[in-house]
Amino acid sequence: MVTTIPHEAQLTMEPNRDRTSELKAFDDTKAGVKGLVDAGIDKIPRIFFSPPYANQVSSATEYKFPIIDLGRLDKDPGQRKEIVEKVRNASETWGFFQVINHGIPESVLEEMKDGVRRFYEQDFEVKNQWYTRDFTRKLIYNSNFDLYTGPVTNWRDTMSCYMAPHPPQSENLPAACRDILVEYSKQVMELGYVLFELLSEALGLKPSHLKDMNCAEGLVLLCHYYPPCPQPELAIGTSRHSDNDFLTVLLQDHVGGLQVLHQNQWVDVPPTPGALVVNIGDLMQLVSNDKFISVEHRVLANRVGPRISVASFFSTDLQSDCSSTVYGPIQELLSEENPPKYRETTVKDYVAYFKGKGLDGTSALLHFRL
Ligand code: OGA
Ligand code: NI
Repeated sequence: MVTTIPHEAQLTMEPNRDRTSELKAFDDTKAGVKGLVDAGIDKIPRIFFSPPYANQVSSATEYKFPIIDLGRLDKDPGQRKEIVEKVRNASETWGFFQVINHGIPESVLEEMKDGVRRFYEQDFEVKNQWYTRDFTRKLIYNSNFDLYTGPVTNWRDTMSCYMAPHPPQSENLPAACRDILVEYSKQVMELGYVLFELLSEALGLKPSHLKDMNCAEGLVLLCHYYPPCPQPELAIGTSRHSDNDFLTVLLQDHVGGLQVLHQNQWVDVPPTPGALVVNIGDLMQLVSNDKFISVEHRVLANRVGPRISVASFFSTDLQSDCSSTVYGPIQELLSEENPPKYRETTVKDYVAYFKGKGLDGTSALLHFRL
């Protein structure tokens, strides 16, 4: 007699002692998830099994994901006020919105996605030279930053570039995408400044407040590649998490799969040509004392692919040893009725705590709550 073991039970019965060696074997290929797909697998290795309850594909359709037109921002003060109001509302209720007419030409967005694709699809012998878990490097390509610490291996590969405030020399960037990495960074930094001004105003502060706090000083581009997945119902592209930065600007292609947790339901972030997705990070929630929310999101695995996305993380200078500035709730926002909800932390400590924990489905913010 054949007994079928429910998928969930299989997961809990799986002997853990083998997991580490399986992860190590996968890591040692230096070929990432794309390498598995290139090798023609039709069943996913069990290191990628993700608890099935996490993967329900349903998307709530009754919600309209906010979209904000920045085109008329500087046309007249009335327009600006209206836009600030929309940013405030979205940051308080969704923690997410899309922007259109943001000033970055569509050709730059297209070339950025093409550049990421060229990087991943180049010769393995050239690409694997960038594969590393040395997090002091300015360019880090690997699969799953939390491979050995996170509970679930995600169906994606990532190339991270630390582009500001100390950009790498051009020759230290991959030839497949170096020019566009530099150009896109320049443009997304400009957009970042605009967004931090709007967010400052939305908090009732002077426009330069967040920038003066160095929230836009550092920029990391996380260039993700989600290969097609032969068993998407068993895996996850990116586990649910919130971002460990002040603000993220995300460029996604047409494939879709990004979902945001809104009113306890997973809502699709619809791929919109020319648009960029903006979301509040944990550190912004911390400094705004919970006025703005850093919301959980995830990416579903998909039979269709690859899916390409570029997440621009704005934070302080993440690679400097002297980043000793402490961040806590902004004084101007506090009062007797609104006492601080978080203790102060350096960004370095916050990020170290986040990375040590991995994407385990809990928020790193809780650890800093008073
Ligand atoms: C991230 C992220 C979403 C995506 O990098 O933090 O949530 O669509 N990425 O790749
Ligand atoms: Ni994210």
